[in-house]
Amino acid sequence: MIELRPLEIDDCQRIYNSLQDASGFLIRNKIISEVEHHDWFARLYKDKSQLYLAITVGGKYSGFVGARDIDYIHKRGSLIIYMVKENRGRGYGNRIVNEFSGYFFKQLNMNKLYLDVLGRNEVAIKCYQKCGFKEEGRFKKHAWLDGNYWDVIRMARFV
Ligand SMILES: CC(C)(COP(=O)(O)OP(=O)(O)OC[C@H]1O[C@@H](n2cnc3c(N)ncnc32)[C@H](O)[C@@H]1OP(=O)(O)O)[C@@H](O)C(=O)NCCC(=O)NCCS
Repeated sequence: MIELRPLEIDDCQRIYNSLQDASGFLIRNKIISEVEHHDWFARLYKDKSQLYLAITVGGKYSGFVGARDIDYIHKRGSLIIYMVKENRGRGYGNRIVNEFSGYFFKQLNMNKLYLDVLGRNEVAIKCYQKCGFKEEGRFKKHAWLDGNYWDVIRMARFV
């Protein structure tokens, strides 16, 4: 059974470990050290502009989902999701994105959830499309990764 739960202390290291494998998917502009990561995690609970939840499958940590840059004036935020390798491609992504979107729109009273995804990340794009996200624009050769420049697609879904 797949579920979302609030973060626990031990998730700090789990998320850090997850991110080591995420360089091919996530668009980042610097390498985050373990110390910086722990510092970020410690401040997370009082930072209203970020909300992260853990994904569990059968009670076991299986990734995280959340929103960054949450803006309470403009009622928008940026989605982030990462699932561990062994649980990808099983339809969990759709369920988690839908569940998180519902929470984001209803509980936080938000209007817009958006994200930037690498143009080569077909699985994520399909998952987002299935959850009602639409392309808003495409930044040409916007990210440098694995020796190439890649397009970045901005997608969004409204309440
Ligand atoms: C992106 C992610 C959350 C999607 O979740 P998922 O559970 O793996 O995806 P789903 O099983 O829900 O599948 C989504 C779609 O992609 C398709 N798909 C799944 N695996 C695929 C593969 N290896 N190749 C091509 N298509 C694939 C599915 O068929 C589905 O399309 P459909 O509904 O038309 O059949 C997950 O793969 C992940 O965490 N990836 C690594 C991190 C990442 O890329 N994060 C997003 C950064 S923007």
